[in-house]
Amino acid sequence: MATATPQHRAAEARADGTAELGDAAFQAVFDAAVAADERIEPRDWMPDAYRATLVRQIAQHAHSEIIGMQPEANWITRAPSLRRKAILMAKVQDEAGHGLYLYSAAETLGTGRDELLDKLHSGRQKYSSIFNYPTLTWADVGAIGWLVDGAAITNQVPLCRCSYGPYARAMVRVCKEESFHQRQGYELLLALSRGTEAQHAMAQDAVDRWWWPSLMMFGPPDDESAHSAQSMEWKIKRHSNDELRRRFVDICVPQAESLGLTLPDPELRWNEERGQHDFGPIDWSEFKAVLKGNGPCNEQRITQRRRAHDEGAWVREAAAAHAAKHSPATREGRAV
Ligand SMILES: [Fe+2]
Ligand SMILES: [Fe+2]
Repeated sequence: MATATPQHRAAEARADGTAELGDAAFQAVFDAAVAADERIEPRDWMPDAYRATLVRQIAQHAHSEIIGMQPEANWITRAPSLRRKAILMAKVQDEAGHGLYLYSAAETLGTGRDELLDKLHSGRQKYSSIFNYPTLTWADVGAIGWLVDGAAITNQVPLCRCSYGPYARAMVRVCKEESFHQRQGYELLLALSRGTEAQHAMAQDAVDRWWWPSLMMFGPPDDESAHSAQSMEWKIKRHSNDELRRRFVDICVPQAESLGLTLPDPELRWNEERGQHDFGPIDWSEFKAVLKGNGPCNEQRITQRRRAHDEGAWVREAAAAHAAKHSPATREGRAV
């Protein structure tokens, strides 16, 4: 039998009426499954707060994927060559796919895509603040790939081991694609950095603008992170914000050197004792302002998202009509 986890056995026992299990007993089974690094699956019992936390996190992640298409889509028509255009189109399309996996993962928790999109459009759910910054030059496409997708990978690789099965499995595929995104960004910046003086300056300017917002992607410092401790206990999160941020900095420093670009932080230096880099203070007032809606592009991003949703209504209607027409019940001539 495929459903062999303690979670499934407990759920089946209750469904069969062969066991009288109260919530306390289910909680104990859940806790044991998490402690044993077993995956929690959609039909397993889970605490309401665990479910709510996952929905919030997966929704925010899904929203970030689809809003994140905008800053880069801004450059598709102006990509400098057919090769670059094809790569960028594939990348932006991947992000739509990531959104799809993630909305589907949220659906397994009983929350539909319509509801989540409605919350995004009405501002009740957020997306990553990084996408509220503008893409001013072609080099920004490279900086986003190298730094923003790079930070996303650092954040998401540990999520492949997240305790909730559908989210963890979605992350495996997402991370493979993000790794391609990161490399295309690096390669783009390398070409610019080795190009003319103006191209090099353009690449440096993009890195100067995207570096600090990328570090903010890991979220507030550990002592101010509201949900971190509980998420770590549930094994949704495996590492703290600060830990992941430091890991990212350590990865980027040698890559920046190979690129021939500098990171805009005079305090950045290797700390022999800690075996990690020290870096300067992050301007959290900027992070909070962007989060509150006062970033350079907040208004533009959400307006465009709402418009795309409205303009896509006919596609959704056509897809629903097509699905109804081809459903087995319709094909067999029965009423649906
Ligand atoms: Fe993505
Ligand atoms: Fe990506």
